[in-house]
Amino acid sequence: MKTILITGGTRGIGEGLAKHYLANGDKVVIISRSKGTLPHAIYLQADLSLASENYRVAEIINTKHGKIDGLILCSVDQAYRKNPLMTKEGFEVTFALQYLSRYILSHQITLNNNAFILNIATPGMNGTVNFKNLQCLKKFSSLKANVNGNRLNDLLGASFTDSDITYVLYNPMSVRTAGARSVFSNPFMKIVLKLWHLVNGKDVDTVVNNIIRILKETPTNQFTAYKTLNKVNLAMSTFNLTQAKKLQQETNKLLENIKSKF
Ligand SMILES: NC(=O)c1ccc[n+]([C@@H]2O[C@H](COP(=O)([O-])OP(=O)(O)OC[C@H]3O[C@@H](n4cnc5c(N)ncnc54)[C@H](OP(=O)(O)O)[C@@H]3O)[C@@H](O)[C@H]2O)c1
Repeated sequence: MKTILITGGTRGIGEGLAKHYLANGDKVVIISRSKGTLPHAIYLQADLSLASENYRVAEIINTKHGKIDGLILCSVDQAYRKNPLMTKEGFEVTFALQYLSRYILSHQITLNNNAFILNIATPGMNGTVNFKNLQCLKKFSSLKANVNGNRLNDLLGASFTDSDITYVLYNPMSVRTAGARSVFSNPFMKIVLKLWHLVNGKDVDTVVNNIIRILKETPTNQFTAYKTLNKVNLAMSTFNLTQAKKLQQETNKLLENIKSKF
């Protein structure tokens, strides 16, 4: 029996993966703000947009549940926002939930040998991170913050190159989840997106099957990135190793005060 830890496992792709591992007889621990209803799942409630909450739950997981065989990062808030929303710790919410949380958990959770970290995001988009606007506060829109969060995760994944951890960044492309439908506020764009999802969107079960297939095939102890069933080219500038190292240093500075309390 494996122990699988899933953030954002109460809805969408995270919940689909939780159902898969539960049906397999594995122990599944789910972290999100609400408590879900899957029988036999262990729920741990936390607002992961707070860095301190990530350190708190990491400590609980490490002491109560032992070494983890699979860490799956799915928590996301895709809701449209015109203006930045700051957490009480002073970070922009999209930056905090989509990047900082994944950074902290990727480094703080104790893993078994041959464990994997699966970071579900949108790897391999063109463009690079602007270190002068790391939280995307200038000319903010939630869509831009989302794209920025994905680029930050590309660098997070790249920082695991040459580590002995199996780190998989995974882009499922369009999936019919409630979260994915909340990215626009404009009623016309909402209808366009609904139609797009009807034609091009995949259902969660298909995506879960694709992910399980990738996890079986992916080389161990390496960093890889996939878009549905295809490998993403790691030579793209979005995975630049120098930038990845720089981001790691910047992130450690941002988290210094919060981390020292744990
Ligand atoms: N759906 C797509 O088309 C698509 C495309 C590309 C990439 N992705 C990526 O796939 C992953 C899953 O997406 P999805 O569409 O399946 O998500 P979703 O249906 O919107 O579900 C989001 C999950 O995150 C949790 N969550 C939200 N805010 C949270 C917070 N502050 N603290 C802790 N948990 C929080 C939610 O639970 P609570 O509300 O209970 O906290 C929920 O379980 C994301 O990383 C997304 O970027 C999705």
